[in-house]
Amino acid sequence: MCGIVGFVGTQPAPGEVARSYFALDVVLEGLRRLEYRGYDSAGVAVVADEQVAFRKKAGKVAMLEAEIEAAPLPDSVLGIGHTRWATHGGPTDANAHPHVVDGGKLALVHNGIIENFSELKSELVAKGHNFVSETDTEVAAALLAEAYRELGDLSAAMRAVCKRFEGTFTLLAVHADVPDRIVAARRDSPLVIGVGEGENFLGSDVSGFIDYTKQAVEMANDNVVTVTAAGYEITDLDGNPAEGKPFTVEWDAQAAKKDGFDSFMDKEIHDQPAAIRDTLLGRFDENGKLTLDELRIDESLLRSVDKIIVIACGTAAYAGQVARYAIEHWCRIPTEVELAHEFRYRDPIVNEKTLVVALSQSGETMDTLMAVRHAREQGAKVIAICNTNGSSIPREADASLYTHAGPEIAVASTKAFLAQITATYLLGLYLAQVRGNMFADEVNAVLAELRQIPEKVQQVIDREDEVKALAENMKDASSVLFLGRHVGFPVALEGALKLKEIAYLHAEGFAAGELKHGPIALVEEGQPVFIIAPSPRGRDSLHSKVVSNIQEVRARGAVTIVIAEEGDTAVNQYANHVIRVPQAPTLMQPLLATVPLQVFACAVATVKGYDVDQPRNLAKSVTVE
Ligand code: F6R
Repeated sequence: MCGIVGFVGTQPAPGEVARSYFALDVVLEGLRRLEYRGYDSAGVAVVADEQVAFRKKAGKVAMLEAEIEAAPLPDSVLGIGHTRWATHGGPTDANAHPHVVDGGKLALVHNGIIENFSELKSELVAKGHNFVSETDTEVAAALLAEAYRELGDLSAAMRAVCKRFEGTFTLLAVHADVPDRIVAARRDSPLVIGVGEGENFLGSDVSGFIDYTKQAVEMANDNVVTVTAAGYEITDLDGNPAEGKPFTVEWDAQAAKKDGFDSFMDKEIHDQPAAIRDTLLGRFDENGKLTLDELRIDESLLRSVDKIIVIACGTAAYAGQVARYAIEHWCRIPTEVELAHEFRYRDPIVNEKTLVVALSQSGETMDTLMAVRHAREQGAKVIAICNTNGSSIPREADASLYTHAGPEIAVASTKAFLAQITATYLLGLYLAQVRGNMFADEVNAVLAELRQIPEKVQQVIDREDEVKALAENMKDASSVLFLGRHVGFPVALEGALKLKEIAYLHAEGFAAGELKHGPIALVEEGQPVFIIAPSPRGRDSLHSKVVSNIQEVRARGAVTIVIAEEGDTAVNQYANHVIRVPQAPTLMQPLLATVPLQVFACAVATVKGYDVDQPRNLAKSVTVE
């Protein structure tokens, strides 16, 4: 939530021809790339001629750009920017960041929530300070300005105020008195440093500066960094030197572009074969044996595990639900899946024999991060499955397994979901291998199936026009239901979530067996119902039960859209529409059956004229609880 970017370049030497880009270019490009993190309002501040100049505007980055075009900012080699997902105060110009205080000399942008802001605000009001916004950020800026006046050093002032703040934050500050630096701090909110030549960057994630450098540095919590064109210096809050953790970004700027697709979501749906392929890559030794070297976790510890709890939110939690079927089947370890925000407040039974698997695309979801901390405090070992290098969740986990889906920009998760399922399957097979639950040839047989999935996903995508035509027909539906059994159940939940979040359509996913216990009352003439039919070549009882469910809703007037594998003719007579997916074993089916549901949601949202990538009220990375 909220995207932050900063840039410090070298001043042109006297007489030197102007630079090819200035702070504003870098910051605006960064904001465009980070806009998926929040898009209620945006703003930039640059320091030039020993003054802070800024513009900010409610609405998307494009509104800010129009504002700057109407009232240009001076050329500068130092700038910060912000794109907001509102927490304190609505999305107005006044509440937009940066917040500029100290007679216009200090500008601050902020991601997160300062929980004790009202107490700090009262203190400042008592001293005569006037506030023009409703934000906690303006309070932080005023406090920072006060500390700067007292200490005469912006970095020391930042350390001092961070000690007073409760809550989570990333802060970036510039001051006209020190026009060569940005001072930044983080606690439980993301911030990475980008290292260039004669120029350095800051971003909520690497996409903030990916056009300029691939060299990045992670920063620990409660660290403050002072960034100049020449370098960066990190300290803890007491001013002791601290180390960052350098890493190289593996994807390039092109990966975060639409590549001719109408939306990032559309592109990311098409990226899915590669996302699965890349997530499988490099996980085998020369004999084809599964080796998850990067886990760096003691095998004896994995053998001692007697319970697994998968924690995640939203789509990632549905990936966890899919994983549960596979892990329990392969490893015979009781596996629970819990929404991270519920896990934490439930007093769960967790001990050193519990393996917690934290699933998160962004690696920054605050609910999941807090659950990770809670699990570790109880003695559990935590494995993070994440897509974002350098993010908080893998940093705090005992071990990590990265998905290699590339940057996911659309707010609605697609390729991360399939990559998460793939990675949890690798983990499940690895556990089964280490614990001796499966023979090598059994593991290899599943891996062989998994390796065929990218090609099969491509076949589903190749038929997307049929699904798009269906979306065109159904755009006026007021509600859509999704039914599934076994692994089809989380797929149904995911199909409904996609439709809600981007097409603003009422949608519900149900376990098909639950139908007669209540939800069937919703079915009336014309009600669209998607049903995920399991493979008839799997457990027969599963398939025939779902066929009965299709009949039941059809008999009550539903328009049935059945996702069924090729050759499954049993569904034909009860289906108004059949969407075919290639044949695959039951556990592999979610990787195929989800794809038409993603295409459907994307197409309905497009037909309705909605912003597919930036749905209302949402942000990509939920970094507040
Ligand atoms: C839905 C969606 C969200 C995320 C959830 C967790 O399309 O994207 O439900 O899955 O907010 O996010 P991560 O995986 O970043 O922890």
